[in-house]
Formats: sequence, C-alpha cells, structure tokens
Amino acid sequence: MFSDKPKNSDAQNKFIKYDSEMLNHIYKTEDVTPYWVADMDFPIANPITLELQRLVDREVYAYEFNSSAVFKAISDWNKRQHHIELNPKTFVQVPGVLNAIALLIREWSEVGDGVLIQTPVYHQFKRLIESSGRKAISNTMKIEDGQYRMDFDDFEGKLQNGDVKMVLLCNPHNPVGRVWEKSELQQLVDIAKKYDVVIISDEIHADIVFSGHKFTSIVEFGYEKSVSIIGSPAKNFGLNSISNGYIYTDNQEMFEQIKATVNSLSLDHGNAFTTFATIAAYEKGQAWFDGFLAYTENTVNWIVDFIKKNLPQILVYKPEGTNQIWFDFSGLSLEEEVLKMLIVNKAKMGLTPGSWFGEPNANFYRMNIASPLGQIQASFLLLKSEIDKLYS
Ligand SMILES: Cc1ncc(COP(=O)(O)O)c(C=O)c1O
Repeated sequence: MFSDKPKNSDAQNKFIKYDSEMLNHIYKTEDVTPYWVADMDFPIANPITLELQRLVDREVYAYEFNSSAVFKAISDWNKRQHHIELNPKTFVQVPGVLNAIALLIREWSEVGDGVLIQTPVYHQFKRLIESSGRKAISNTMKIEDGQYRMDFDDFEGKLQNGDVKMVLLCNPHNPVGRVWEKSELQQLVDIAKKYDVVIISDEIHADIVFSGHKFTSIVEFGYEKSVSIIGSPAKNFGLNSISNGYIYTDNQEMFEQIKATVNSLSLDHGNAFTTFATIAAYEKGQAWFDGFLAYTENTVNWIVDFIKKNLPQILVYKPEGTNQIWFDFSGLSLEEEVLKMLIVNKAKMGLTPGSWFGEPNANFYRMNIASPLGQIQASFLLLKSEIDKLYS
C-alpha cells in the first residue's frame, strides 16, 4: 500500500535531490527543502521491493533478459489503465527516456535540421537537440482562460518554413501539467502529416493523470511517422535510478529501423534489476499506484486551495497530470533577486527556476510535489508568513 513516510533519510544517501553540492550549485545554499528534481520522497511499492529482494537473495547476476515479459507487462498495464492496445512485439527497450529521445533525434533528422519543442518545456529537450547539432525551434504555448494551449498558427508557420523535421511532444506536459486532449493532439497530428514531420512523444508521465482528464497516446492516431516513448516506471513508480525507457511504434518499418540502431549500439536490453522492478511494478503495483495517484491529487487540491485563499497574488496553473505544479509569481511585483531571496532564503523552498524551461520570465517556478503533504504544507505556511512580512 502507498505510504508517504520516507523510510530512510540517512545522510549517507547521495540522492541528487538532497545533495549539498547540487543545492549549493542551484541555490547558493543547501538550507532549502528540495522540490526541484522530478523524484519522489515516498517508499516504492512493496511488490517491487520484494522482487528486488528476491533478485539479491539469488546471489547470481548472470546475463538474463526477459524483454518479452517486460513488454507484455507494460502492454497489459496500458490496456487496463488507458484502454490502449499495444502490440508487445513492437516495443524497443533502451536505457532511459532521454537516451531514447537522443537516439530518435539522430535517427530521423540531420545535423542542422530543426526539432520543434513547445515551450516552456522540460529543459533536457533543448539540451538533447542542441548537443546533437540540431536546432531547437520553439513553438511557445499560449495562455487562454488560465490554461496553457498549443499555438497551432505558430506551429504550422514553423513547419511550413521547412526547417522542422521533427516535433518533440511532451504529453502529459512537464512543467505546465497539461494532459493534451484528443482534439488538440489530432490537430497537431494533422499538421505534422501535412508537412511530413515525425512526431516523437515523450509519455513518461502518462499514468499520472487526475480526475476529469484522460491520457491519449500519440499511437492512437495511426500516424505512421509517430513514435511514443510510452513506458518507463520512473515517474509513476518512483524508479528513476533503475528504470528503463520503452520505445513503441505501430509502424513496422520504423520499428525495424529503431531496433536495428538500438541493437547496433548494444543498448537493447535492460538488466536484471530493471527487469524485475518493471514487471513487478506493472503486474503487482496497481494498489500502490492508485494510492499514490490519489495522494498526489489531494496534494494538488490542497496547494491550489491554499493559494487561492491565502496567496491570491500567486498564479497557479492547476495541473491535469504529472508530479509538477507551475507557478507565476508576477503578481507579487518583486524584482527578480528579491523574489529569488523570498522563495529560496526566506521560505526555504528549492523550486525549479522557470528559466530552465525556456521561459524568459523570471517570475515562473516549478514545484515537484511528490513529497509528504505535511512537509509541503509547512513550506507554504512559511511562504505565506514571509510574504505577509514583506507587505506589512
Ligand atoms: C518529460 C520527461 N522526460 C524524461 C525524463 C527523464 O527520463 P529518464 O530518466 O528515463 O531519461 C523526465 C524526468 O524528469 C521528464 O520529466
């Protein structure tokens, strides 16, 4: 069952989230409660622990591949969770989601080509595009009725231009928390099809979707030039350190091509830890996951309600999914450095600066909310009291 009590806060742990060097690098202090990296503070699902224990108890780490069982577990999960039919035979296993993106960028674009991203977006996208010699083309999202929307006019204009060979979609979207609706994705696919552009869809947050919203995978549109990186038990099961990435496409030709490239790099198998953990998560982790999702949604609701009642100067984009919340602090009308001082040094909140996501406005911050609610509540109470002091 899901529990929000971290079992182990040993200072020997070198979790990047709490690492003092990392915190000093980002915040110039380590005296913050970290809400930056998209990792969770909760103990993982017990069935995963039991399987990993079983693995360790064998005391043998011989070569052992069981990709077909992994793909079947992911496929069955997606059928139950999202009513999506995935053929277990057209998955390709890679070491992680970012590796997968880096590889697919190289597979279907050339040096100098444009790869389109919808900003603000997960900062590693731009890094992967630029470090492979491609150009990151930004399709900045619009804000309409208090929510982020895709700007299709700008999108089409950028595809028309001819530079863009690939669209790197984030669904659900990190950091703004949109779970793209079917009609929005249909419009995106129609335009991509018109200009013969490949869509790579990062769906790492697919399972973290709140009431009233439904995840739609890119694979549901039958667009032959689309690939999903659908499965990774990283964000949904808290396995960031040992999870893999799973590429999926229905297009047999693309599948063969990806598989050949992944094979040629000898990246096509996980290891015993990822195999045991992934199968346990998707086959036996449902009850834990349901508890985790309900807990996360409750945290979202608490934060949104608290802000509305106590800090109306802060604009919160209520997420439809993901472990993230995106805030706009412009309403406080503070200079950039004063705002940073308030958040980091006074409220001691280690939020992720909005500038990481290609958002030029220094008033934006992202919060990873996969932490115990009591801790989050204490952080917001401190934030409120520090803001009250500023204005008293
Ligand atoms: C949208 C998105 N993609 C990919 C990753 C990282 O995936 P991996 O660790 O499997 O490379 C993250 C982690 O925060 C993410 O938010």
